[in-house]
Formats: sequence, structure tokens, C-alpha cells
Amino acid sequence: MSIRTIPTQAFSDQKPGTSGLRKKVTVFQKPHYLENFVQSIFDTIAAPQGATLVVGGDGRYYNRSAIQTILKMAAANGFGRVLVGRGGILSTPAASCVIRKYETYGGIILSASHNPGGPDGDFGIKYNGENGGPATETVTEAIYARSKEISAYKILAAADVSLDELAEFSLGSMRVEVIDPVADYAELMESLFDFPAIRALLAGGFRLKFDAMHAVTGPYARDILVDRLGAPADSVMNAVPLEDFGNGHPDPNLTYAHDLVEIVYGADAPDFGAASDGDGDRNMILGQRFFVTPSDSLALLAANATLAPGYKGGIAGIARSMPTSAAADRVAAALGLPCFETPTGWKFFGNLMDAGKVTLCGEESFGTGSNHVREKDGLWAVLFWLNIVAARKQSVESIVREHWAKYGRNFYSRYDYEALPTEAANGVMTHLRDSFATLPGQVFGNYTVATCDDFSYTDPVDGSVSTKQGIRILFADGSRIIYRLSGTGTEGATLRVYLEAYEADVARHGLDAQEALKELIAIALQLSELKGRTGREQPTVIT
Ligand code: G1P
Ligand code: ZN
Repeated sequence: MSIRTIPTQAFSDQKPGTSGLRKKVTVFQKPHYLENFVQSIFDTIAAPQGATLVVGGDGRYYNRSAIQTILKMAAANGFGRVLVGRGGILSTPAASCVIRKYETYGGIILSASHNPGGPDGDFGIKYNGENGGPATETVTEAIYARSKEISAYKILAAADVSLDELAEFSLGSMRVEVIDPVADYAELMESLFDFPAIRALLAGGFRLKFDAMHAVTGPYARDILVDRLGAPADSVMNAVPLEDFGNGHPDPNLTYAHDLVEIVYGADAPDFGAASDGDGDRNMILGQRFFVTPSDSLALLAANATLAPGYKGGIAGIARSMPTSAAADRVAAALGLPCFETPTGWKFFGNLMDAGKVTLCGEESFGTGSNHVREKDGLWAVLFWLNIVAARKQSVESIVREHWAKYGRNFYSRYDYEALPTEAANGVMTHLRDSFATLPGQVFGNYTVATCDDFSYTDPVDGSVSTKQGIRILFADGSRIIYRLSGTGTEGATLRVYLEAYEADVARHGLDAQEALKELIAIALQLSELKGRTGREQPTVIT
């Protein structure tokens, strides 16, 4: 088998976004497109000769073919060993777990997360470093710079290999180990949570429904929830991963996880509902006819962390992305813990976790996790909740209501305007920036603007600075409106508007979030001139 050096021309659009390079499958299928990016990764990370790499993805369309290419390129680029999930499968948190456990030189994860899959859907690729977490911005910028000047890539001339059985074989001078994608991850979960207590809860008639959304978590949920914890087999729905996710949109929220929502809000509803996304790092938690906002979920996990064996010694600190509600800050303050506010994207949590500054992290976008890996983790959140419910012997709803009564409630909602013309979306942002000078002090109904800015972040560990991470309008009573352009979309621009209002009065905690935030939403639309500038009357999705 010979190593070939293939001449290529650089592409100008391989800039990684919030979470790696995301494009339509058809873009990745362009000759040399995938290869150029993979070679740019390898050139940038400069792995020592003989290093080990992890490779796996969420099983979406093009996963298998991309993995064949990556294996041959890894062999040609001097890697000594690759651990690849059987069938090319590794959920994002499982990949992070495997990188850490086997101390590899990082890994390549193939996923476009919650974006639709299939031949006309999305695909994505990212590099995670030795800590198991997404490469920092410094590294992704260097990969991008490399991708703009690359002129050749190296690949082994070899036939495709079979990845469907657990096996070990050579590819050129590199070893390939096809590993069980679930086992290491499931073991880690068992070490963190009180499985006997959860098993007893389920045996006692507590009913749960987990929606794998035809995506990667099906086999993980079956192994953990059904085989290890004894939940009935039909507790896991849409459990078979499909390359096009059954034509669905594997994003666990009230809009896209509608199969589950119908069940959890229907007659004879189970006690607990949950869903995860395409690559298994997001989660949605539901009680019986009750939705837990992701921001509240982070706060609740922090407040109850010591109930789980893996966190019984307490947590070091909490980090949340800037648009995430400040519910977690209140818990941190009560526990006397540090709380960090980072830009959007999990890559900003890695340094804080590596430095031991935080244990729990979360984002409003249905992402929660801890230092057990360096990615957010869907099933981990589900198990954490089940552990808490088992320990407290209360319903999800009563646990949340008690929490609000103690800390107050941060009403929260996010409005997404997807696939906008890029110019119109940029126009909204520019208009808002232009208003910075005049907004402070202005009164809108019950709200007075205190300050506004473009969020920027200085990493407390390595001192790196990230600017323009979202526009914040902060009101005198602590309410906030945030505007941000998405960094994960593949079509036009997606504008996200985040709304938050704090309510201490228990009598008002039962209000619907949309009702409680009505005035703030109107202000957000007015300040941004969003309707006029984009022509959109309604958001695409409200979460
Ligand atoms: C979105 C979420 C962000 C999350 C990312 C990857 O990014 O908003 O919190 O980390 O997906 O799951 P965005 O499209 O907003 O850039
Ligand atoms: Zn995801």
C-alpha cells in the first residue's frame, strides 16, 4: 500500500464555526473538500509520529464514507493507531470519553449535531484535543489559515475497510481498532450516578420515555436505561439510528421532539420524558406535562449535585454561556462558588474545566455537562435528573417549583429567525450597535436600559480574548435582551434573540414564560427593527 500525495487547490470557506466545520453534504462531496480540511487539521495539530487518534460520528449520511477517507489519511500522515467506533459510530460525549480514557492525541468527530441529515442535509467535522474537548479558537483559526493555503494532501492507496465488527487490523503501518461505541461511556455513567437507586425508582413504577430521535443515542439509551437500569424496552423511542434521522430534525426541544411532547403532555403521561439530539450532546428534560428550561436545569443540577455519587464532594464552580439565564448564578452565589460567563459554544468551557475552576457547565441551547468529559452530554443530564428524582422522591415539577420558591424564577425564552438573508441579519446587528450610545437610560414601559455592549470574553486561564460574542441590552432590574448571529447554520444567517426576566414573587412563578416575557419581547422587536429589516413577522422556532 503506497502513500500518495495528491495536489489540491485551497477552498476559501473552511472556517470552523461555533462547533467545527458545518456544510451541506453536497459541499463535503466536492472533490478534495473533505480531504483538504482533514489535512489542514493534521498539519495544524502536528501529532507526533505513531500517535493515536479517535474517529467516530453520529451516523448521519456520509459518515461512513468520510471515515474511510480519514482512516486512509491518518495512516498516510503518520498516526500509529486509530480507535474507531463500530459502524463509524461515536456520540460526541462518548468520543470525548474515549479520547480521555485512552489518552489519545485527540480525535475527529463527524457530526452536524441537531441539523437535519441525509443527502441534502448537513454534515460536519471537528477536531477535539487531548483533553477530549473541542479545539480552542486559537487552534480552529490556525486550521482555517492552513486550509486557505493548502496545496496537497496525503492519503494511503488502499481498499475500504470493514467497520461493522469489533476487530483490530492494520491499514498500512497504522493499527485500526474497531471499538464498542457504548461500553466505555456506559461505564463512566455508572461510576457517576447511583444506578441502584435509579433501578429501584424504575422498578417501583416510575415511568420514563426517552426519545432518541432516530439519531445516535438509541444504542446508548438502550444499553444504559433498559439493559443496565431495567426500564421497559418501550421506554426508548425512535431508538434505531438512521442516516437521515427519519427525515426529522434531531433537535430536542418542544418543537422538533413532537412525538415525545405529545406523549408527555397526553393522557396517561409518563413521569419523566427526555430527548437527545443527532450526536447525543444535547438534552431536553420534561416532567409529567412539565418542561424544564435548560437554564433552570443547569441551576437545579448544581443545587442538587451532591445527591449524585460522582459529585458528592461538591462542585468547584459553574460556567454558563452568556445568553444562558442567570439562574445558575444564584445557586453559585448561595453555595459560595465561582460562576463564569463565557461566549456561546462548548469550546470555551474546556480551559475552565482543565484548570479545575468549574465542575458543571451549561448553555440555554439544551446543553449541560460536567468535567467527566469535555463536551456537553445528553444522556448524562438524563441520568443526573433520574438520580435526583430517585434521591428526593419528588416529581420533576415539584423539584423545580421548590427551586423557584427558594431562588426566584428566571423567565427565559429564545426566538430564532432562521435562513435570513445575510445582509438583513447583519443590518439588524449594525443598527443595534449604532444605538449603543443613545440607549442607556431610556425607558420602555416597565423597563429601563442600564447598559448595552458587545460581549467580549477574556479567558481567565490562557488570557485569549474573544470579541463580538453577542449584543447585550441589560435593564436596570436585571432583565436582559441578547442578539446573536448563529455560528452553526449552513443557509443564510440565523438571528437568535434571547430574553430573560427575573421574578422573585412565588405567586407569579406559575405564569407561562411567553406571557411573563411579553413586554420584553415587544421591546426586543422594537429596538432591533427586526420585522422591517428582515420582513419576518414570526420567528422560525421559539424555545
Ligand atoms: C448553537 C447553540 C450553542 C451550541 C452550539 C453547538 O450555536 O446556540 O449554544 O454550543 O449550537 O451545539 P449557534 O448556532 O447559536 O452558534
Ligand atoms: Zn449536538
